[in-house]
Amino acid sequence: SRAGQDLRTGVVWSVSSWRSADDPSPGDFRYVMDTRGSPELHVWRNGSKRYRTGPWNGLRFSGCPDMTTFEDLVEFRFTHTADEVSFVYRDRVGSPVSRLVLNESGAMQRMVWDGALWRVFWSGPRDQCDIYGACGPFGVCNAVGAVMCGCIKGFIPSSPAEWRMRNASGGCARSTVLQCGGGDGFYTLRGVKLPETHGSSVDAGASLAECGRRCSSNCSCTAYAASDIRGGGTGCIQWFGELMDTRFVDDGQDLFVRLAMSDLHLETTKTSKLVVIIAAVITAFALLLLSLGLVIWRKIRQRSKQVTNFDDMVRGECLTYHLETLRDATDGFCPKNEIGRGGFGIVYKGQMEDGQEVAVKKLSAGNSVQGLKEFKNEVDLIAKLQHRNLVRLLGCCIHCSERILVYEYMSNKSLDTFIFGMYDVS
Ligand SMILES: *[C@@H]1O[C@H](CO)[C@@H](O)[C@H](O)[C@H]1NC(C)=O
Ligand SMILES: *[C@@H]1O[C@H](CO)[C@@H](O)[C@H](O)[C@H]1NC(C)=O
Repeated sequence: SRAGQDLRTGVVWSVSSWRSADDPSPGDFRYVMDTRGSPELHVWRNGSKRYRTGPWNGLRFSGCPDMTTFEDLVEFRFTHTADEVSFVYRDRVGSPVSRLVLNESGAMQRMVWDGALWRVFWSGPRDQCDIYGACGPFGVCNAVGAVMCGCIKGFIPSSPAEWRMRNASGGCARSTVLQCGGGDGFYTLRGVKLPETHGSSVDAGASLAECGRRCSSNCSCTAYAASDIRGGGTGCIQWFGELMDTRFVDDGQDLFVRLAMSDLHLETTKTSKLVVIIAAVITAFALLLLSLGLVIWRKIRQRSKQVTNFDDMVRGECLTYHLETLRDATDGFCPKNEIGRGGFGIVYKGQMEDGQEVAVKKLSAGNSVQGLKEFKNEVDLIAKLQHRNLVRLLGCCIHCSERILVYEYMSNKSLDTFIFGMYDVS
């Protein structure tokens, strides 16, 4: 069967439903080709539009992505010339018989005879989103969304109270008035069945880029899209008023919707907000690293300062001995004068020139760094706790990496252990 119109004679080819399954007289439903704008099939019930297939996009009707799934069985031919607009189909050679039926409840059904019975390969309307105008002007229907109806970006529900009650047929209104001139831009609504085109202008010869320029330069153009999706999209459909009956579909088309720049920038603002947040986080992190580095650097400096201060202290406050003096006192650090070993050094018994007996503690050279710290601790501690029960520090000697402490020598063994103990405990 054929649907369409002979444009010369005005003859319309349409299909009516049966009144009922066993009454072939014309029923309530009829499908006709709407030849205005970009032609498409409409199902009418008495005087009201119930379903539209969406305009032919070169491969299929825009709202019927599943038509392509049985192209191997049925060949579709869409003709749009100055003489006629028509849609016909033919079973492919060797394929089972098929037919397009408008059943008595107003559904279009593509039936294929499988040898025993008629199988429904395709039917429309497929869901609530296919019911004409489900989400009203500038609404967009999402059959798999938690909420079926939404507004196109840049639009808000015309009647929020009605929308809350899930009556979206009032549609949406622009949230910001168009500036016209250079003040507008286009938002790409992806993957949709194109809105109704009967008020739109169609130029199959224009490129999509040219289409964008035309729409951009005409203030009353509200949206544009390619009229043929083949080859990345060619041809031009321009809408000049409401965008009616738009829905998301698989393999849907891009629709470029005119918005005021400020509405377009909502997205950009969001993005730049994100950029600001990321920048803030990075800055905070960098600052943290910096202050951590500063703390570490100050610690290191403090430590080296401590060492310097300590050297000053040792040189300034302690009685310092020359290495030669101590060498003489201990017979050149002779092993026979060794009276003990600690973790960080060896202690020798020595005798000064004036006859005073001393204990000379020589820190191991290999441990000079750690020994220096221990050295400071020991000098600090002993200097502070000059006490008659403690061995008395007489002085010290620093010579290159040599660190030497000179104590009063006491024969009491427990005090010897104290000297070594200082190191052995740590
Ligand atoms: C008409 O077709 C639709 C879609 O296939 C189906 O759900 C419905 O039951 C059919 N109605 C009748 C009366 O056969
Ligand atoms: C804008 O487009 C409409 C519809 O095609 C047309 O009538 C009108 O002249 C155009 N305006 C301009 C400024 O081109």
